Amino acid sequence: MAKLTIDGREITVEAGTKVIEAAERLGIFVPRYCYHPGLSIAGNCRICMVEIEKFPKTQIACNTDCLDGMVVRTDSDKAKETRRHILEFLLANHPLDCPVCDQAGECWLQDYYMKFGLYDGRFYEEKVKKQKAVSIGPTVMLDAERCILCSRCVRFSDEITKTSELGIVSRGDHSEIAVHPDRELDNKYSGNVVDICPVGALTDKDFRFKCRVWYLKSADSICPGCARGCNIQIHYNTDRPQHGSGERVMRLKPRENPEVNQWWICDAGRYGYKSIDHNRIERPVVRKPDAVQEMDWPQILDEAARKIREAKGKIGVFVSPQLSNEELSLTRKLFSGDRFQTFLFSPNPEGDQDDFLIRSDKNPNTKGAELMGFKSTGVEALFKECEEGKIEGLLIFGQDLLSLLDPRRVEPALNDLLWTVFIGPHHNLMSEAASYVLPSAVYAEKNGTFTNFQGKVQKFNQALEPLGQSRPEGEILKDLADRLGVKLSLAATG
Ligand code: SF4
Ligand code: SF4
Ligand code: FES
Repeated sequence: MAKLTIDGREITVEAGTKVIEAAERLGIFVPRYCYHPGLSIAGNCRICMVEIEKFPKTQIACNTDCLDGMVVRTDSDKAKETRRHILEFLLANHPLDCPVCDQAGECWLQDYYMKFGLYDGRFYEEKVKKQKAVSIGPTVMLDAERCILCSRCVRFSDEITKTSELGIVSRGDHSEIAVHPDRELDNKYSGNVVDICPVGALTDKDFRFKCRVWYLKSADSICPGCARGCNIQIHYNTDRPQHGSGERVMRLKPRENPEVNQWWICDAGRYGYKSIDHNRIERPVVRKPDAVQEMDWPQILDEAARKIREAKGKIGVFVSPQLSNEELSLTRKLFSGDRFQTFLFSPNPEGDQDDFLIRSDKNPNTKGAELMGFKSTGVEALFKECEEGKIEGLLIFGQDLLSLLDPRRVEPALNDLLWTVFIGPHHNLMSEAASYVLPSAVYAEKNGTFTNFQGKVQKFNQALEPLGQSRPEGEILKDLADRLGVKLSLAATG
């Protein structure tokens, strides 16, 4: 252990702790560019200089071990003066791009200049010109002039994805970031380099020029893309729909959680937000043999509840691992008893998996559903019973049975039913065939919890209002429960 003083405050830390980390534990912020807690230490940007008693020169806080009896000053005149010089040096060749730079508003050069710089520029020479707006892969653009060579992106591709697409080439003030010849920055986690680039050198093709960051609002959420449940922030802008796309979500960003996703998310999850506003069912619809007709909520709920209440045969319920724990709990209470046959049925086929974050189960709450007793067996037997006329109707939570299962098996079974109720957010073949279509909200439009494959229960928060007339499944289930005369306790309603 080492007992030291930082800005006059005492702290005891484990041996090997860096000064920057000890300061952070005291709530003292030391500026940093190259230092990132998830990467090895490079110690090359020098912005984290602090003054340490008995050391003749200022030292970098990110690569100096705490020692017993050390006296550190992050706020002395000498420390501040050194920082100002470092910033001036880092900005010597930096272009005056702020007005047209996508990073403006979240750029650490801008922020630190205002906080630690505030010097008058003394650089009158021609700045070194480098390549601008170069595509270095399917997701990322590089502006080499803006790069401060902190090497975070290089270390990310060496240490986290181990794909090593990036490197620093040339010498002195001609040094720049580049992809290796004949290669692209193309891996399943490529978008993270944009998050960790402290300046506007690496920008996201999907986000750049869509929205100034100061117009963004943020909600803490959980990625529904797979069973990992990476912690994310939804950045959205409901005031200014962009480029006529109608998209309200502008981007997703990782949210740090050391036990689940550390600082990272995969590209599939990052760009998965597009489904939020695409292909959505916006109004309740009833499909009769001779017509398809929109209906208001009270009426369609009355009709659906009547079908369920008056059913003479059994009812099959396809429960989805996309539902939250709270919605699953309501489903279990509402559809219990001999009349109902429930199955856990994934709307997404299994996909790729790696030994980092990505899981083959492309649902966020399979574990939660299993812990509540839902099982995925028995679907085959159900179709047999449909054909035998024992099943009267089906309740389907968004799954596209007609594409997920063999249509030669499903179509005849569906034809033998008297009715189908589809509760889901997106159009698919099943929603186009169901007799009652109840549009539901997506994860970004509601509150709840998912249980990830490790068994961690994680909360997600509403960012947006449900699109059109869609409603969260929890509300739909409660309204059905009222009509069916089932009392649901408040605890189960989430
Ligand atoms: S591109 Fe960004 S992350 Fe990479 S070295 Fe330059 S400043 Fe650092
Ligand atoms: S690993 Fe899974 S949960 Fe994490 S971002 Fe990717 S799809 Fe989403
Ligand atoms: S943050 Fe310490 S040298 Fe870069």
